[in-house]
Amino acid sequence: MIKENINVYKDTQDLSEGFTLFLLKLLEVYPHVNISLSGGSTPKVLFDYWAEHCKERIDWNKISFFWGDERCVSPDDEMSNFKMTKEHLFDQLPQIKDNSIFRIKGESNPDDEAVRYSKILATELLTKNSIPSFELVVLGMGDDGHTASIFPNQIQLWNEKSSCVVASHPETGKQRISLTGTVINKAQHVAFLVTGENKAEKIKEMIENRSVAKSKYPAALVNPEQGYLYWFLDEKAASLL
Ligand code: 6PG
Repeated sequence: MIKENINVYKDTQDLSEGFTLFLLKLLEVYPHVNISLSGGSTPKVLFDYWAEHCKERIDWNKISFFWGDERCVSPDDEMSNFKMTKEHLFDQLPQIKDNSIFRIKGESNPDDEAVRYSKILATELLTKNSIPSFELVVLGMGDDGHTASIFPNQIQLWNEKSSCVVASHPETGKQRISLTGTVINKAQHVAFLVTGENKAEKIKEMIENRSVAKSKYPAALVNPEQGYLYWFLDEKAASLL
């Protein structure tokens, strides 16, 4: 039985505030939070919100930053999730120290980087049954039901035993490094941040008919074994619930 909690907000700004309150609660409970970030437009709004409202509100020294996926590009490429996070968050909050940032090196050989990053996770995170366990994994969901960079046409990558895999975008073929379900479902808390009307159909199917959705959408396979799943939705994404 999945333990999930659904939160609906008027818009992305309210969602950012709601998610911030959630993170602050985790920071009261855990001495340190290893957080896996996602790319996309929703986290960009969240990072801008943190940069504007949370310079002092969040104890940034208690957080280490990782990624759930990264495009196989250089860190200064417009497509880089790290670049987006650097511009919208790290460059705005100098109190976030470089040694708390563990980026996926998109510029490296993808197979080598998947191995290297898996080792980083094994070293930096607590492990459960020798599998790295994040305190918090933040995920988005693509219009096609992908999450991290596990796409429906490569849904089998979700169950890879390794922590990270090399995936590819279904249209462009461009390679990406992605966490697998092995690590994502070992997290203590997983938070989906999903906004926009174009996600509403899949959100309804994922929440109300998960057994069917699981066969089609990698996002529907998120089910933290001993953790909790939280949905942070705007009203548009939740409009069919
Ligand atoms: C990526 C993201 C991806 C994202 C979804 C949702 O690198 O593309 O990690 O999985 O979370 O595409 O993106 P939006 O927040 O823009 O809807």
